[in-house]
Amino acid sequence: MTEVQLLQTIGLSVVGLGGAILLFVKARFVRVVAFVSIVLGGFTLVALSIPQMASLPPGVEKFDVASIKDKKELASIGQKIFFGKGQCALCHTIGTGEGRCPDLKGIGSKLTRDFMYESLTQPQAYVYKDYEHVGPAKFFPAKMPYINKKPIGLSKNEILAVIAFLQNMSGEEVTVELSEIEVPGSAGSASRRGVL
Ligand code: HEC
Repeated sequence: MTEVQLLQTIGLSVVGLGGAILLFVKARFVRVVAFVSIVLGGFTLVALSIPQMASLPPGVEKFDVASIKDKKELASIGQKIFFGKGQCALCHTIGTGEGRCPDLKGIGSKLTRDFMYESLTQPQAYVYKDYEHVGPAKFFPAKMPYINKKPIGLSKNEILAVIAFLQNMSGEEVTVELSEIEVPGSAGSASRRGVL
């Protein structure tokens, strides 16, 4: 018997007992107590029938830097970060129309790599560039977060992977070199070993 089933059984017995007392006992005080237990037991049963939903933070994905063989692989890691840990997809769409935030379709062709890096790490320093839009700057109800700071807090490697993904999905050549991926604990990047 699970915990919920046990509590449901207890709730049902409380309601049943209360009902029986109401039917057969005449003493007023006991009847009031029985009525209250029916109401409370009923609430408990309703509460227990609501499905339990646990909201856990997204699982932390670790990537083995040493296993990255080519830029395509880096881009696919970036894709996972985009839809997972980076939380980008909470705000941004890719080609399905602009909602609360700019659609990022083709962003890798519109923005240079350095501009993208700055857009991500110093979002307030740049104005949203919409190349088809004329007139006053568009207003977005949401704000681009600093993705290198908490709560998202992506590492430099992870940001580079996301940029690789944005370039790749825009049909551009990925300009992030594998040698730029930093290995934790080693100054050079001669041996890429460790975890992203
Ligand atoms: C809370 C919502 C939100 C999240 C999460 C978010 N962004 Fe943004 N992003 C925005 C908004 C809003 C803008 C428009 C610029 C502004 O007004 O700050 C923007 C702008 C951008 C731009 C510049 C677009 C342009 O055309 O200049 C890029 C690139 C970008 N975001 C990428 C990302 C990536 C990659 C992630 C995940 C690591 C991410 N964003 C997460 C809201 C968000």
